[in-house]
Amino acid sequence: MATDSTAGSSLSAQESAADALPPATGEAFRDAIARLPSGVNIVATAGPAGKAGFTATAVASVSDDPPTVLVCLNRKSPQNRLVRENAQFSINLLPKDAVTLANIFAGRTGLHLDDRFRHGDWTTLATGAPVLRGAIMALDCRLLSSQDVGSHTVYFGTVVATMTKPRDPDGAKEVLIYHDRHYGEA
Ligand SMILES: Cc1cc2nc3c(=O)[nH]c(=O)nc-3n(C[C@H](O)[C@H](O)[C@H](O)COP(=O)(O)O)c2cc1C
Repeated sequence: MATDSTAGSSLSAQESAADALPPATGEAFRDAIARLPSGVNIVATAGPAGKAGFTATAVASVSDDPPTVLVCLNRKSPQNRLVRENAQFSINLLPKDAVTLANIFAGRTGLHLDDRFRHGDWTTLATGAPVLRGAIMALDCRLLSSQDVGSHTVYFGTVVATMTKPRDPDGAKEVLIYHDRHYGEA
């Protein structure tokens, strides 16, 4: 937790009080966090450890100087070792018509690891991580660091290359989102 030197003692008093509170139940948390609309991405890696990709909404911008992002990946996923060992990954924001691809990379069709890449049109930018040609935007990242937090590993990546699709000239909705356990568009 960050400390604020201007409010030192009152902040630490709040922290001790908060430390005494038990975490919310997993079910209450999942119900609440489901209400947060998120873009749907495929996070992909390739390298000596192999090729893999998974659908992810737990993706965020961390810093713009240097450009840094984070991705949260379940520690139980076999892909966790691949991201760590390849030390590179891409984030590909899906277009609204990519629900089938999102389900394939969420493991809902029984395809695993590099078999998932038989679907979609993939290329590479700088690192060699797979990049989806039709993505709304893609970030090609070198692994910076990671931290295990509860069920997930948070991977921080330095963005070394980007790809951005031109906007729809009519301003039509283009992005696949996930909200309240359903796909939508934004
Ligand atoms: C909309 C959606 C968002 C998801 N977001 C994440 C995520 O941010 N992190 C994660 O670890 N798994 C996430 N998952 C689940 C993974 O996509 C899924 O567990 C994974 O692809 C299974 O692959 P594996 O069998 O290789 O672990 C998400 C699934 C869906 C449908």
